[in-house]
Amino acid sequence: MSFPYPGSRRRSTLLIALAATSLAVGVVDGPAAQAAGRGTSGYPAGCPWMDTHLDASTRANLLLAASSLDQKLRWLDEKAANSPDQTSFTSFSGTTTTYPAQVPCTPTVVYADSADFVRNAGTDVTVYPSQVDLAATWSSQLAYAKGKAEANDAFESGHNVILGPDLENGRTVLDGRTPEDLGEDSLLGGTQAAAQINGLQNGNADEPVMAVLKHYVANEQEANRNNMSANMTTRTLEEVYNQPFNIALSQSSPGGIMCSYNQINGAYACENPILDSVLKGQDGFQGYVTSDFFAVHSTAPSLNAGLDQELNNPIYYTPANIQAALDAGQVTMSQINEAAFRVVRSYIASGLFDHPMSSTLPTTTQTAYSESVAEQVAQNGSVLLKNSGQALPLGKSSGTIAVIGQTASATPTGGVSAQTVCTQLAPDGMDNATDCPDVVAPLDSITSRAAQDGLSVTYDNGSDIASAVAAAKSAKTAVVFAYAEEGEGADRTSLSLDGNGDALIEAVAAANPNTVVILETGSAVAMPWLGQVKGVVEAWYPGEQQGTALAKLLFGDADFTGRLPITFPASLADTPTDTTAQYPGIEDANGIYQVSYSEGLEVGYKWYEAQGIKPLFPFGYGLSYTDYSYSGMKVTGGGNGKSDIKVSFTVRNDGTKTGTVTPQLYVTQPSAADEPGHALVGYQQITLKPGQSQKVTITVDPNGAAHPISYYDTSTNSWVTAPGTYTFQVGSDSQTAKLSQSVRIR
Ligand code: BGC
Repeated sequence: MSFPYPGSRRRSTLLIALAATSLAVGVVDGPAAQAAGRGTSGYPAGCPWMDTHLDASTRANLLLAASSLDQKLRWLDEKAANSPDQTSFTSFSGTTTTYPAQVPCTPTVVYADSADFVRNAGTDVTVYPSQVDLAATWSSQLAYAKGKAEANDAFESGHNVILGPDLENGRTVLDGRTPEDLGEDSLLGGTQAAAQINGLQNGNADEPVMAVLKHYVANEQEANRNNMSANMTTRTLEEVYNQPFNIALSQSSPGGIMCSYNQINGAYACENPILDSVLKGQDGFQGYVTSDFFAVHSTAPSLNAGLDQELNNPIYYTPANIQAALDAGQVTMSQINEAAFRVVRSYIASGLFDHPMSSTLPTTTQTAYSESVAEQVAQNGSVLLKNSGQALPLGKSSGTIAVIGQTASATPTGGVSAQTVCTQLAPDGMDNATDCPDVVAPLDSITSRAAQDGLSVTYDNGSDIASAVAAAKSAKTAVVFAYAEEGEGADRTSLSLDGNGDALIEAVAAANPNTVVILETGSAVAMPWLGQVKGVVEAWYPGEQQGTALAKLLFGDADFTGRLPITFPASLADTPTDTTAQYPGIEDANGIYQVSYSEGLEVGYKWYEAQGIKPLFPFGYGLSYTDYSYSGMKVTGGGNGKSDIKVSFTVRNDGTKTGTVTPQLYVTQPSAADEPGHALVGYQQITLKPGQSQKVTITVDPNGAAHPISYYDTSTNSWVTAPGTYTFQVGSDSQTAKLSQSVRIR
């Protein structure tokens, strides 16, 4: 499968080369450290920064105090920082930079890309569902579990830094990286990212892995991503695009954050003063900022803005360039010291100095735990969008089931199979047709589960619509698998399904009144056939355990707990970025696409609320096999706008099956705040048996990073709570309020 990303092969080769070099070296203590011998205090002589009794900052300072300028500068470049025994590095342009050997006792560090699973692992690793699936679980326990499992995959396959998770705000559903991100809401995305970071960094005490949260900031489109400027007001930056990062930072401490390719208001992200003023200053980020590949455009402006490390080989952050900037008085020694300190401190704090990776790789890192995490995410992230006439769950009355569609089967048809939708496309040299070798195909799982009910299953790959129609006609129930591929490097151009999927579904639905559609897509799609089918499941890209998870859901052995983390619009024309000026932007005389974020705060569900546009399916939406009722809402506290507000209510399972539900709390601020619609300010997941009820209390912290009852006031550059009436609503999605109560604040 071709993928329009220039240079992707080359970059991936280099990553692999880096891994190979590092693995050859393999251990924390380089030859110099070993020669130095062990000190009497338990750490190698001459390496006081290896004293684990000291805190990370003290250790980093000890190391830097023993370093020459060029040794400090090594930390400012990924390759030089991470390969302590290597002294010369050649960039893509062919320039070779040499450094002195690093001080002793510094670790080999290997970065791996991984939003969804450890990329280029060189070992058989578990392929988890894509990140949008993780967002759809609304479960921070699962996000932690995924981080923990993935860290194990990383460490054991010779990687101790994960470049992920990713955050964005879903400004356009066409963004090719939507499946790699955690949905359109700052609170949901920020909370999921934090839990995953905590799992990555703290989940395996003896196998530490550091996380690099990315891509800061407003990295909302792949179209022209290297030459576009996201132009927005300060209020929009603060309230929308900085918010998920700020929330993630309030709940976790990623070692690094990656700045993005795009410009924000005319300055490239990696040399934008907001790195220092907003991210490190206001948000209090303690780690280091590293660049995306080739996202650096300067030496002094980048250092001044707060970029600490250049990714890959030195181009702008070579010792010669930095020395020239120092000589010209464009940067100061204290900036260089700070950049080096941030990198070293993060590596030490994340445990990378104290836990060398093994140089012997296992053939697989898959464990029962990692596979069960992959299955759980696929199961809990799948969203039931439609279920009329109790088409689902399937069971004895379903009769013969015709499974239709290429992605149901592990056997490729025209190059497409269950592996294709295992996870998102990525320009890492990964071939989606073969890189999910352990995939459990839905067809196999459905066939064996159906047999338990005495049902038979037929299969048609759907490539010939007439043949699919015949298969659908001769069965009582039709289950059609449809897909749309996307990933890094390109945006989608429409909301249509790939592989003639819309036509296939229409034809099958016309032939069989009991048609259920399983969508495997990374983002929203239009559903022109929605009225003609009985059931629709959004399964996203469900990873290697997809078959097991889907069979359980379809046959009702498990309930659907997934809820949409993005709005599904009825059409592209309904979306907030429908003009060319807004997306993909208008090219200026310098070849930069100027992208007007003129919709301001009206992003995601807030746009639909504010504009009174009914989406196809709202944010937060998802059906279940049981029904819930909500009662007894009470809002207490917070009248002064400063202390906690407690919102309590009771949820009852009125149905006949056990289920897990996620009540969502939204708040509408008074009109003086000038906020569009309402915002998610809390949610909680509870499991209830039939007839069981439970009181839920959601605490809203007015002073928390989410700023739930404030707006960003640009005249004072601070968050302000407007005096007035605040309406709290408990809902099953962003557009369905079940309970509501208004309170006066201040
Ligand atoms: C992506 C980053 C990724 C890097 C390394 C870039 O193209 O934007 O997310 O971490 O490549 O693979």
